[in-house]
Amino acid sequence: MATNTPDVRSQFTALRMKAPPVYLDCAATAQTPDAVIDAMDEYYRTYCANVHRGMHGLTERATLAYEEARKTVASFVGAMYTSEIIFTKNCTEAINLVARTWAEEHLQKGDTVVLSLLEHHSNIVPWQQLATRKGVHVEWIPVDKEGKIQTGEIDAILQRATVKLVCVTGLSNVTGSRPDIASMTKKAHDAGALILVDAAQLAVHHKVDVQEIDCDFLTFSGHKLYGPTGIGVLYAKRDLLRNMPPFLGGGMMIQDVTMEGFTPAESPARFEAGTPPIAQAIGLKAAIEWLSGYSWEEMEAHEQTLMTACMRVLQRMDGVSVIGPHSATERSGCISFTVDGVHPHDLTDLLGQEGIALRAGHHCAQPLHKHLGVPATSRVSFGIYNTEEEIDLLEKGMKKALDILKI
Ligand code: ALA
Repeated sequence: MATNTPDVRSQFTALRMKAPPVYLDCAATAQTPDAVIDAMDEYYRTYCANVHRGMHGLTERATLAYEEARKTVASFVGAMYTSEIIFTKNCTEAINLVARTWAEEHLQKGDTVVLSLLEHHSNIVPWQQLATRKGVHVEWIPVDKEGKIQTGEIDAILQRATVKLVCVTGLSNVTGSRPDIASMTKKAHDAGALILVDAAQLAVHHKVDVQEIDCDFLTFSGHKLYGPTGIGVLYAKRDLLRNMPPFLGGGMMIQDVTMEGFTPAESPARFEAGTPPIAQAIGLKAAIEWLSGYSWEEMEAHEQTLMTACMRVLQRMDGVSVIGPHSATERSGCISFTVDGVHPHDLTDLLGQEGIALRAGHHCAQPLHKHLGVPATSRVSFGIYNTEEEIDLLEKGMKKALDILKI
């Protein structure tokens, strides 16, 4: 199916409305296609039951659908084994799972975790918490003025410190830049370290293949991928999962419980205590199947058209500074910017009143904003359904808002 935008838009209730939002906030949450809502609706209406428990037809159907979702996700990221896919409640929880299990067991006082300055707080705070608990060091890979990772700096850190883990985003939610994950993975592995890729933004804009990247851990969430909220994914190599202790304790993560203690189940059950996000997994499967109706080449080309048009609009406006790479081809997903003398919240608020949805603030990336010398930015972010007409509306909206704000 081609990314013919009217056809794409017709599949979203929100975008069929009489006055649809100019929704340019997809990096925060993407709109949900009807196919995803329908799949979850069908589960709740016709076969709502818990999974891996009970012996009736409904639970069998629900269990099958839940495990089919795992297979769909495994194939989506190119995992070798379905058991390498763990469902969590979001991307943040997936990263915390690694910090609280693998890292808790394998890192000792004096070891180092390397982060890039592009990271979202969800890929910073769990490591700072680990540092407090275990006496582990956190070292930062700097970025240049365009917000691009200075990969040479990784070599220096890998040489001078006992690095056990490198944590890096696949695509910045602020600058839209894409670190060279494959090369960073090789560097980390050559130094005896593992790598965790936060693919929360990457997974919806570019094909991810964990075997090609050879990353050890990869995380993302459902709601940025046109799926539901309440579900995230952790991919981890099978040999790592085998030796990781459970994360949360409770039902279904055990093989056996006695009054003295418990024996954990194998992965993935070991890491999915309690009733899992069943409807959400079914919705995520539907989202991935829906997305697979479009080719990555077409989606990337469509997004580049939007990115180029939006960069052009912003770059010709007085006082606007775009954060991140100046070339549209070096970025994906989003454009963050500031306007001289205007607070991003004021601009974004006025645009919101016109039905144009952007995000303003530090986008949960305060260290990056501090490094770039701006406390906050406004951010435009794109999805498959956005159009060039919406970029025109953004330009008109911004002119109107700036006329008001600059008086
Ligand atoms: N992490 C999401 C964003 O960047 C919420 O907006």
